[in-house]
Amino acid sequence: MDRIRIRGGRRLSGTIPVSGAKNAVLALMPAALLGGPLTLENVPDLADVATMSALLAQHGLAVEHDRAARRLAIGGAATNLEAPYDIVRKMRASVLVLGPLLARYGRARVSMPGGCAIGTRPVDLHLKALEALGATVELEAGYIEARAPDGGLRGAKIIFPVVSVGATENTLMAAVLAEGETEIVNAAREPEIEDLCLCLMRMGAVIEGVGTDRLRVTGVRELGAATHRVVADRIEAGTFACAAAITGGEVLLEGARLDHLGAVARVLREAGVGIQEDPRGLRVTRLNGLHGVDVQTDPFPGFATDMQAQFMALMSVAEGASMITETIFENRFMHVPELLRMGARINYHGASAIVRGVPQLSGAPVMATDLRASVSLILAGLAAQGETIVNRVYHLDRGYERVEEKLAAVGAEIERLRG
Ligand code: EPZ
Repeated sequence: MDRIRIRGGRRLSGTIPVSGAKNAVLALMPAALLGGPLTLENVPDLADVATMSALLAQHGLAVEHDRAARRLAIGGAATNLEAPYDIVRKMRASVLVLGPLLARYGRARVSMPGGCAIGTRPVDLHLKALEALGATVELEAGYIEARAPDGGLRGAKIIFPVVSVGATENTLMAAVLAEGETEIVNAAREPEIEDLCLCLMRMGAVIEGVGTDRLRVTGVRELGAATHRVVADRIEAGTFACAAAITGGEVLLEGARLDHLGAVARVLREAGVGIQEDPRGLRVTRLNGLHGVDVQTDPFPGFATDMQAQFMALMSVAEGASMITETIFENRFMHVPELLRMGARINYHGASAIVRGVPQLSGAPVMATDLRASVSLILAGLAAQGETIVNRVYHLDRGYERVEEKLAAVGAEIERLRG
């Protein structure tokens, strides 16, 4: 298994290109099941993209991934309507084929995703929404068996009790081919949802309220070909903003958008991080001291749960204390024990952690446990005295494209140890 070695203490300086968003492309790819051919540009080269490509290929679609050109071309029709356990268990986003398969082919058999490191991750909201559109849904031998009525799905009003990114995406992709009007109330407002709406509209879907928490879809008979550029990854941008801040550097995040950072920008600024818009993206600097800021994760435009671990690493070297409350997932503090090994002062009970900043972290061998926890350890390593070895970086490769190359290019002493 690859490891990443970092020698801390180097200020970052230079330009980091921000890749296309993982959490956008993992919803855009299944949209190709609705119609097409669909060509996606600015596609990040990630393990999860390869997994989703394999999933769509086993459904019978033709998937061509030109890594160098960052382009994915997906076409053809599904000949197999089953998403198998051995793929779904590796990547929960696989469940996003459910809505499109049901809408276009009237049937789908998708393995229940099962939980993951950060939580039980139920899909009950996805299933209830599809039933509201007329589907019958049964669970059998660990699989979701979903069938549309003979005349196809029918539009409905769907009110989500909690904001769910995936449930909003599955419902959207089912509704675009459903008969009549669908209204999705309390829809997720993450930029990745807006990106999916824009792509679906390019394919011929009729959607109103894009970017708001109330989406109105008018079903159409079929969706056609489209080309769509994947939106920049706001979590990768936020992660590298923390890297610039924790090392006291100055970095241009090429392609990043201030409006897509939501509350992350406000909180980082309160902590003493300079963030300025630039024609090419965002310029992030940290000229003076960092100070502790309290934060609670919330759905967009609140502070992203996917930025919680990275922010905790930053707060571990701030002056003063920071109370960090994780409201989205029930087990998203697995980076804490590893940060403690590096000399951080953190304690947590339930959903809230208190971080007391220390002047200096010390490098150590640490273990990656999930995608965002892994990158928080790299951030800590960039600031720590001495050497940090992050083990099990396959977690990292799921969601960050060549992270060590991007950081080395702006002055970090970081390398991947193969094997
Ligand atoms: C998406 O996961 C992202 N993944 C996650 O990013 C992100 O953390 C999450 O949204 C929240 O922003 C992708 O887009 C591929 P949810 P998703 O449905 O859709 C509960 C990363 O690191 N819930 O918005 O699975 C759920 O348990 C990953 O890039 C139900 O109860 O998240 C959670 O508490 C991690 N029933 C809350 O809603 C359901 O049917 C939000 O989950 C669905 C969700």
